[in-house]
Amino acid sequence: MIVRAILLAAGKGTRMKSARPKVLHELCGRSMLWYALAALRDAGIEEIVVVTNPELDPQVRALGVRTVVQGEQLGTGHAVQVALAALEARADGRIVVTNGDMPLVRAETLVRVLSAAGENDVALVTARMPLPSNFGRIVRHGERVARIVEVRDASESERAIDEMNAGIYAFPETHLRDAVARLRSDNAQGEYYLTDAIELSAAADRPAVPVVADEFEEVLGVNDRSELARARAAMNRRICERHMLAGVTIVDPATTFLEPELTIGIDTVIYPGTAISLQSSIGSRCTIGPHTRISDARIGDDVTVQESVVIESEIGSGSAIGPFAHVRGHAVLVGENRVGNFVEIKNSRYERGAKSAHLSYLGDAEIGEESNIGAGTITCNYDGKKKHRTKIGRNVSIGSNTSIVAPRTIGDGALTGAGSVVTKDIEPGGRVAGNPARPLP
Ligand code: UD1
Ligand code: CA
Repeated sequence: MIVRAILLAAGKGTRMKSARPKVLHELCGRSMLWYALAALRDAGIEEIVVVTNPELDPQVRALGVRTVVQGEQLGTGHAVQVALAALEARADGRIVVTNGDMPLVRAETLVRVLSAAGENDVALVTARMPLPSNFGRIVRHGERVARIVEVRDASESERAIDEMNAGIYAFPETHLRDAVARLRSDNAQGEYYLTDAIELSAAADRPAVPVVADEFEEVLGVNDRSELARARAAMNRRICERHMLAGVTIVDPATTFLEPELTIGIDTVIYPGTAISLQSSIGSRCTIGPHTRISDARIGDDVTVQESVVIESEIGSGSAIGPFAHVRGHAVLVGENRVGNFVEIKNSRYERGAKSAHLSYLGDAEIGEESNIGAGTITCNYDGKKKHRTKIGRNVSIGSNTSIVAPRTIGDGALTGAGSVVTKDIEPGGRVAGNPARPLP
């Protein structure tokens, strides 16, 4: 037996009012399509084909996902016909069909619908939700589904049904192929409805098994930007919940913005106004925020980052960053570092215990163990054409307001006086001051 999935995404998504295809709009840092694909893969379904339209197709293909183009959007049933034509027929196959615009669907729900279908049955996800609603209505026959009626085709009494079609189905493949070949478009929208395959199933003595979703929010589609914002809030709450249950304190989940692929250690506390993105990892017992942005960063244990920005960089254990620091461009702080107020660090390496506590720019620099960079220090790394490196040894004391004109090497244990402009290398143990800096007597 083989399980494959058809992800429907060819709809135009006109209500987004966007030049970007709907399923590529993002929530919590990933596209709707990303979530739909992740849920299918987490449910153990590896073979997925996405039904696209000609504009969307190259963008989805660029993600390395298999696609099939539906030239004209003649309905969900037609989309499935197009997909099945592109899939090699398997007598023992099962097919999951789901919509591309439901980012909140959980893998567990897909697993539930698959196991409800078993080897030979049709199953679909339903949800009870408040009326009115634009979802297709589930007409039951006892414990099974007799048919699905779209709102525009529904009678008044059918519209009063509060059990909805979520748009997630599991079919035996041979049955699905047979049913979609028999669909007709004689309905209010003149479309081939996939939902009519359910009535055909009932007629073929295979009435579908309903799987009621635990909460209807999970199956809400995103059709406009207002619904996108609501889905984002729900997804963020879900991600925060997962970390809180795993031992992270999030003081205010509503103002903490997390993405789905983060690692955060236990007893770390995250204060409000903090956004953590991409594949960042944060160790245990850290204090992050308030008002902090961390992106694509690796942060050790017992680190404090407050009111600061850390991007594409590493912060070793026991370090304290901020308030108001900007660490970026593949900076590596090995550990027990102190980076303070109004300090920018770019593409630099701080060995253990190195500090720059106030008002500095360290770019393309290496700073040895336990060296102290005084307030107002600038590495003048750019000569107008090229960037140059600054090497500072261990136990160096750089005086306040020192400018180091790179490329420069400053030896271990050296010292610069306040206001030094360093235009020559300094020997280990050397002491300089002035503009240009000269050895002290
Ligand atoms: C569909 C269901 C409805 C269900 C609802 C759940 C049908 C006829 N109706 O309605 O019962 O309650 O989903 O959200 O299936 N698509 C294509 N090609 C097409 C048309 C649509 O790929 O020709 C894709 C869309 O991109 C979308 C999905 O199929 O991802 C659903 O299409 P949509 O038009 O949104 O269907 P609904 O009217 O919402
Ligand atoms: Ca829809």
